[in-house]
Amino acid sequence: MTSEALLSARGLRVVIDGLHILHGVDLDVAPTGVTALLGRNGAGKTTTVKAVMGLVPRTGDIRFAGRDVGRLPTHAVVRQGIGYAPEDRGVFAGLTVAENLRLAERDADPAYPFVYELFPELRSRGRQLAGTLSGGQQQMLAIGRTLLNANRLIVADEPTKGLAPKIVAEVADVLARVAERVPVLLVEQNLALVRRVAGTCTVLADGRTAHQGDAAELLADEEAARRLLGVGGGHPVAASSIATAAPAVAAASAATATATATKEAP
Ligand SMILES: Nc1ncnc2c1ncn2[C@@H]1O[C@H](COP(=O)(O)OP(=O)(O)O)[C@@H](O)[C@H]1O
Ligand SMILES: [Mg+2]
Repeated sequence: MTSEALLSARGLRVVIDGLHILHGVDLDVAPTGVTALLGRNGAGKTTTVKAVMGLVPRTGDIRFAGRDVGRLPTHAVVRQGIGYAPEDRGVFAGLTVAENLRLAERDADPAYPFVYELFPELRSRGRQLAGTLSGGQQQMLAIGRTLLNANRLIVADEPTKGLAPKIVAEVADVLARVAERVPVLLVEQNLALVRRVAGTCTVLADGRTAHQGDAAELLADEEAARRLLGVGGGHPVAASSIATAAPAVAAASAATATATATKEAP
């Protein structure tokens, strides 16, 4: 997988305030389609994508499109062509939708036609304050922003978090369409969505890579899914409704949410 990967990280480590958050993450993002980054709450998914973006101090090897980006500052990583939709969406609540989009412009010729084709509401709601959008609309804005520029990879951190089932299905459709044009690294707890859109996956546990492989194969393996993700691979994950799996994962992972970072030895 490594040789063809668009993005690959080896031995990624992150220490924050003496806390070892990541202690050996390996990650390969396929050059096409959706690659999922999975793991229970607190496993280190958000920290991993922040490490790739240079938003937290990191060591280890990170290569993107054949280039060593592991020591680049965030602005230089972004300019390599990585669009980041963060976990909290990060829209400017007090600015309009159109202003949020304009602030994200990096290229001389931003791809408004593509963004408005995918998200017609971003055009019709251009004058609306982003803070008054629904959660799903804010998520569309966060993803739309990353598509304005000619990015070579989109990183979306839990885009369906807190969204109603119907909206989760809409986000899934959008992600599938985005991935036809640009590869996506998708951090996601909703395993039914992962099963639907992802090709390969990396699973983190306690700040380390615990598994890499085909997403559908993992989710079909009840024992492995339970061990790695805390859910049965059979029933909730296999359910046809995309909505069904999310609460199961959330409940299963809540108990482990706090105990993953270990204090640095003196
Ligand atoms: N800035 C930080 N300072 C201290 N601990 C942190 C910080 N960021 C994350 N952590 C801890 O690191 C672990 C991994 O967090 P995170 O990457 O957000 O996990 P995930 O996205 O998989 O839920 C958690 O235990 C979290 O509390
Ligand atoms: Mg997270």
